[in-house]
Amino acid sequence: MLNTAEILNALANRQKNFSLGRDLYCDEGVFHADLENLWYREWVFAIPSCDIPKTGNHATLQIGAYPVVIVRGGDGQIRAFHNVCRHRGQRLCPKQNGSSPKLVCPYHQWTYDLDGKLLFARDMGPDFDPSKFSLKPVHCRTEGGMVFICLADDPPDFEHLGSYLRDYVGASDLSNAKVAFTSTIVEKGNWKLVIENNRECYHCGGSHPSLCRTYSDNPLMTVMEGPNAASPEILSHWDRCDKAGLPARFVNDPGMQWRFARVPLLNNAESFTMSTKAAVNRRMGTIPWSDAGSLMFYHFPSSWNHFLPDHAIVFRLLPISPTETEVTSKWLVHKDAVEGVDYDLQKLTEVWLATNDEDRRVVEENQKGILSPAYEPGPYSPSQEEGVIHFVDWYVRQMLDRLSPSPAMAA
Ligand code: FES
Repeated sequence: MLNTAEILNALANRQKNFSLGRDLYCDEGVFHADLENLWYREWVFAIPSCDIPKTGNHATLQIGAYPVVIVRGGDGQIRAFHNVCRHRGQRLCPKQNGSSPKLVCPYHQWTYDLDGKLLFARDMGPDFDPSKFSLKPVHCRTEGGMVFICLADDPPDFEHLGSYLRDYVGASDLSNAKVAFTSTIVEKGNWKLVIENNRECYHCGGSHPSLCRTYSDNPLMTVMEGPNAASPEILSHWDRCDKAGLPARFVNDPGMQWRFARVPLLNNAESFTMSTKAAVNRRMGTIPWSDAGSLMFYHFPSSWNHFLPDHAIVFRLLPISPTETEVTSKWLVHKDAVEGVDYDLQKLTEVWLATNDEDRRVVEENQKGILSPAYEPGPYSPSQEEGVIHFVDWYVRQMLDRLSPSPAMAA
């Protein structure tokens, strides 16, 4: 297990534009450093707000050692708390999703209001002060219908990202959406391999026959340099979107932690379906055409997403161990769309269920190869794997900044 000095050494000596050294993908010490310095300090995408549409609805997730519960209050507000009872520490809400008018601990029934206040604790004596035992809050922000949480005491800025979430994702009006289907899988690979796999389509032609019916694996369709720097096809798509008031142009965080861009699908396809046609009869939000393409939004370290005219798919990854990552995908449709009438669940989900499983196999084989003592870092393709280079550079920069004993050592 590497110590901090050894991790710093591995990061500082990595070869630029090459995959990372073996330890950075499998060592226990690196995994804990990733948790402490990224996962416990950055904003993490948790759920779409429509996952908990009503008062008392709640959803749980586990970020490293921290169980968290996200709750819709009686005032409509979404709040997050450490999912730990203030009596003797029982996990308060054990299920992935639930609903109850109050949060009742299953152990001794201490009862909390939806805003975290302790309302009831049986036989605790005359000196017991319930106001001292509210649930511990977790920073929580909802913008564009996307709920982000941050475990840090002092979270990084959210406003810049939040303003673009409002504009770009706002066009899909997730407040009038519902979750049609949720899939959770565990990939036996390091979380960074899961993101690396997502950030390129170099592998798509060989791995994703269903997705490639509608999604181009031409890197020019996903590699963009700015709001006016892309392939002619994308620029003309953005001009068309501009005229309709649909936010589409490339915009990114200067540090490349996140990016938005709407791109057309292959041959005017409407959706990620086997037929290339829309999977859902009702369009979402204010998207004006059925061939408006996919708004792609990623955010490191936890999420990538597709917002299509007829549905959206939001993806969340969470690290479980050095070589295990949980990937949760949620398919969102208009809240009034009726299964069996307006959409067929199998047709809606089949392409990305297959794609997720194909990616799982690729990532697991990648991890197995990296575990070999014979593995050594290999070069990324500058044209095909630019997105991977951006991610790895972001990761190394953040870790060096946070682990270095002096600013002079930061890259
Ligand atoms: Fe929750 Fe006892 S641990 S009520």
